[in-house]
Amino acid sequence: MLGKQKAIRLMSQDTLRTDTQAKSPASTQTGTPKTPKKNTKKLFIKTYGCQMNVYDSERMREVLAPVGYAPIDGPEGADMVVLNTCHIREKAAEKVYSELGRIRILKDKKRKAGDGDMVVAVAGCVAQAEGEEIMRRAPVVDLVLGPQTYHKLPEMIARVSRARGERLETNFDTQEKFDALPAARKPEGFAAFLTIQEGCDKFCTFCVVPYTRGAEFSRPVDQIVAEARSLVSQGVKEITLLGQNVNAYSGAAPAIEGGDHWGLAQLIRHLAKMGGLERLRFTTSHPRDMDEDLITTHGDETKLMPYLHLPLQAGSDRILKAMNRGHTFAEYRDVIARIRAARPDIALSSDFIVGFPGESELDFERTLEAVAEIGYASAYSFKYSVRPGTPGAALPGQVDEDVKSERLARLQAILSQQQKEFNESLIGRTLDVLVEGSSRGEDGLFGRAPYLQGTHFAGSADLIGTMVKVKIERAGLNSLGGTLVNG
Ligand code: 5AD
Ligand code: SF4
Repeated sequence: MLGKQKAIRLMSQDTLRTDTQAKSPASTQTGTPKTPKKNTKKLFIKTYGCQMNVYDSERMREVLAPVGYAPIDGPEGADMVVLNTCHIREKAAEKVYSELGRIRILKDKKRKAGDGDMVVAVAGCVAQAEGEEIMRRAPVVDLVLGPQTYHKLPEMIARVSRARGERLETNFDTQEKFDALPAARKPEGFAAFLTIQEGCDKFCTFCVVPYTRGAEFSRPVDQIVAEARSLVSQGVKEITLLGQNVNAYSGAAPAIEGGDHWGLAQLIRHLAKMGGLERLRFTTSHPRDMDEDLITTHGDETKLMPYLHLPLQAGSDRILKAMNRGHTFAEYRDVIARIRAARPDIALSSDFIVGFPGESELDFERTLEAVAEIGYASAYSFKYSVRPGTPGAALPGQVDEDVKSERLARLQAILSQQQKEFNESLIGRTLDVLVEGSSRGEDGLFGRAPYLQGTHFAGSADLIGTMVKVKIERAGLNSLGGTLVNG
């Protein structure tokens, strides 16, 4: 259980806090650390970046289990190491090469000790974007596989051990991947991720996703329902539907219903009927795809949690246009007003980029004003990072690093203040909390509130995996604390 809880906790802390992280993306380990049985091979997966990578790492672990791999909690002595990488900002991509330096030492050590070989794989978005370069720069790497090819891992490993054959798999067949992955899941906790959509056709000028994850692809409804059922039958109570552009979801309708395609709102309403499933969330959305059906579903569907991550990126219309976001600030404000009318207690979250090419002090002030006007419960904020091959990289007016740093600090000051105030506004309220595990501090249990904050309170371990009521008495920047309410 612990491995997953650890991973989710880390990701969610990132979501909750005003991002100090432009410096480093979250990196997490996937899998239940345990001592594998004699004949099993030891697997270590390190995950960088977003929740979609956390999901992919879980699926890799599941794909490798039937061929004898069991997870361990560090790379030392591993028979297989997978780095599941992120390419969204320069620093995230650089980390891979420094980690590979450390892995090389461990691989040599293992071989010298007569303990066999360590197969090293680089997966995820850096693999997709820089596959050839990785092979050239890092001979320690045995396999390179993009986000759409990890279902082929067992086959690729077999090839490596036979001969140095084809070691690079970076095709873009998202459908083939999902068709090949089993519907049966092996969840490790009570809150799970489920990828329903991948890729992006929006081409924001700063973003590598359309190049690393490919074109938009939506999984068919039946496939998603089967996976959700498998998760719920094993105790999962909360599912977060994932997609780079999740509210652009348009999946083939269930076979039994015939007909056409379903949007996200229809999928949510359908999943909400599943007995045993108590909570649904989705991320990440684009303001342009927040349709009326999805907005009203926020008001009508009680299982859909009152939390919405809707990235604005910048407050200036000039910069929004240069970013190719396809909407103005006034249009964003209008969408927010309609969501708040449908669900008044909704907690909002956003991503922001400071220092996009051409951003003047006045443009940046529009971002500060937008934050002050909308009011966010949490946010990520980043300095613009030039990504080779994206249109933004070639734009004139690149902003100095120190100007970006100064703007980021000003933005984060107001976002932190809002986050703190939002958390404090919950003091005195009794919230439903899904108990995910025991907490490290003096309080006994740890769970998640509807608005996504980690919540600590005293209680007995048999409550883990259940939904309880907690009266909130303390609020920090990233978490809440309170007392269990009986009955
Ligand atoms: N530089 C900085 N931030 C970026 N993001 C995406 N690309 C870049 C970039 N080149 C941010 C956006 C996006 C989030 C996932 O990462 O804010 O919403
Ligand atoms: Fe990137 Fe824009 Fe697509 Fe989001 S909508 S994944 S920021 S291109």
